[in-house]
Amino acid sequence: MGEPVSDLDEVRRLLDADGYAYLSELPTGFDHFAFVSRLGAVIPQYDGRPVWDLVAEPGMDDVYHSRNTRALVPHTEGYELAGRPPRYVALWCVRPAEGPGGETTLADGYALLERFGEADRRRMRDTLHTWRSSEGLARRGVVIEARHPVLSEHGGRVILRYSQNNVDPAGDELLGRLLDVGERFFAREHRAISIARNALLVWDNWRMIHSRNAFKDRGRHLKRVLVGA
Ligand SMILES: [Fe+2]
Repeated sequence: MGEPVSDLDEVRRLLDADGYAYLSELPTGFDHFAFVSRLGAVIPQYDGRPVWDLVAEPGMDDVYHSRNTRALVPHTEGYELAGRPPRYVALWCVRPAEGPGGETTLADGYALLERFGEADRRRMRDTLHTWRSSEGLARRGVVIEARHPVLSEHGGRVILRYSQNNVDPAGDELLGRLLDVGERFFAREHRAISIARNALLVWDNWRMIHSRNAFKDRGRHLKRVLVGA
């Protein structure tokens, strides 16, 4: 991964250039939360707390859920929230998975959009869809939905919302095509990152689509913080 990166300006430069920054070889005792907080205001998680623990919960292996060991599907974070989705997502690793799997996968959503013409993109800005929170969260009593277009804008930045499974393309040819093209694009173009113990991965959630590979080790433990803009 080259030189260790722990300077916030360098992280901002990488986020602008590549859409993500991976910070490995951080010093022991590094304060991930304090560092990430300097990127912007921390958004409360679904349980109201500032940090979400990504650990396998008992009794949740049969649903689509961030807190189990199954693969996720490509998505952006917070598409179902009422306002703007989080600008940045940060994950750091308390304990990596032993054995295969568990990588965080990322692909450039803006590169996906380049596969669509101007007329399609205009329709992506103009057409509202219903975005729903996941099946796993519903089992925990969290049911959220909101109406948003695929594309919006804030402060001159394009905001992409994307979900392979929690927005219904029925009756919308363009959304169906976006999800078809997007699924193949993600499978081909993603970068898989095994977040090392104590390392930090941050990405621009308005630009990047992410997912997760399945794994076996129930002791894997990541922490997640969302930052607004
Ligand atoms: Fe996610």
